[in-house]
Amino acid sequence: MIESIQPAKTLAGAIRLPGDKSISHRWAMIAALAEGKTTIHGYSTGEDCHSTLGILSRLGIEVDDKGSEVSITGKGLDGLRAPTEALDAGNSGSTIRMMSGILAGQSFTSHIHGDESLSKRPMQRVMKPLAEMGATILATNEKFPPLEIRGTKLKAIDYSTPVASAQVKTCVLFAGLFCDGETIVREPVKTRDHTELALRMFGADIKSIGKVITLQGRPRLEAKELHAPGDLSSSAFFLSAALMIPNSNLVIGGVGLNPTRTALLDYLASIGAEIKILNIGEQHGELVGDIMVRGSVTKPGQISGALTASLIDEIPTLAVLGAATYGLDVRDASELRIKETDRIATVAENFRRAGVEIEVREDGFTVPGHQKFHAAQFDSFGDHRIAMAFAVAGLVAAGPSEIHRAEAASVSFPEFYATLRNLST
Ligand code: S3P
Repeated sequence: MIESIQPAKTLAGAIRLPGDKSISHRWAMIAALAEGKTTIHGYSTGEDCHSTLGILSRLGIEVDDKGSEVSITGKGLDGLRAPTEALDAGNSGSTIRMMSGILAGQSFTSHIHGDESLSKRPMQRVMKPLAEMGATILATNEKFPPLEIRGTKLKAIDYSTPVASAQVKTCVLFAGLFCDGETIVREPVKTRDHTELALRMFGADIKSIGKVITLQGRPRLEAKELHAPGDLSSSAFFLSAALMIPNSNLVIGGVGLNPTRTALLDYLASIGAEIKILNIGEQHGELVGDIMVRGSVTKPGQISGALTASLIDEIPTLAVLGAATYGLDVRDASELRIKETDRIATVAENFRRAGVEIEVREDGFTVPGHQKFHAAQFDSFGDHRIAMAFAVAGLVAAGPSEIHRAEAASVSFPEFYATLRNLST
């Protein structure tokens, strides 16, 4: 599908976003291991989170999928059934990595695969701790999906994750649910903590002290009635657009403001954005509020070290924002190369198509500021965040642009183009 993007004069209005993708995956997976019916209102409408639901039903869990309202009837920790077919994680790295922790603790073998992009993403980061816990996992070339996961009675471990990855942390904690005793995960940098908050909310005994998380195995998890907040990572596209287009005024309601995710807002404030948070409250352990953005960028951006890990999903759209404003320098970002696409390469290629300069390095890039985007034929390369970042670039281009393979946006945000059109004039 090709999506046409017209340059925008201004961006104004109030929107809500689909439910948080990270939270939706976790709540659904934990609900399947809880006892009774959990209903999640505001579940992510993105395809990734629906891949998770497809897998849960293949594992014998009753799932009533009404799009953004989902009910999952869990059968307790030992209630999953051996699947009769391979499990399909689609495009979703979160699904395959986090589900691997659950599958490793089962008394059966399962096969899990994904699309072409997922088949190139590294799985050793979860295979290693799961092997230490006692599971046998076979992979293509010992690292890529499809995976054959031979579940077993796992043993608890004390694991220091070499990569800053919430997916890896979650995988080990989920595996730890099936162990007797204490599973400990030590992170190099604190990553998003939705798993810890969700497990506690469903009834597990889990403690976090700084970057060390301790989970007691074999908890009794209880079903809940839940409301997911809007996805802060999806807000990045609209916030960036509003900051590039003069006289914009945007309110995004009901967004998740978990402090392990809000580096985006701090970063935007640090480059001059006027951001206000209104109506802040707590829901199921997660902070939620409305974001108001106005004004413009006044300074160049620098993203490196721990900040890179916290902003990793937002970097493509922040690169577009940097090019159109005061520039951006990104370091320590080799993880970008192993996302849904090599995001350093796909950002650079789309910049090239619009006549925008970028200096690329193995683990980052530098984008000079004050550049003009020519009208261009952009390509998502099948990556949702690249599709949406360059739709935003199209808003500030010199003429109408097109996004090829625009449908990729549906992986996290099927309503993205309609929402963008409604805001732009
Ligand atoms: C996610 C963690 C991050 C992020 C991804 C979602 C999660 O990945 O990029 O989009 O929900 O745990 P890593 O764990 O690979 O850093």
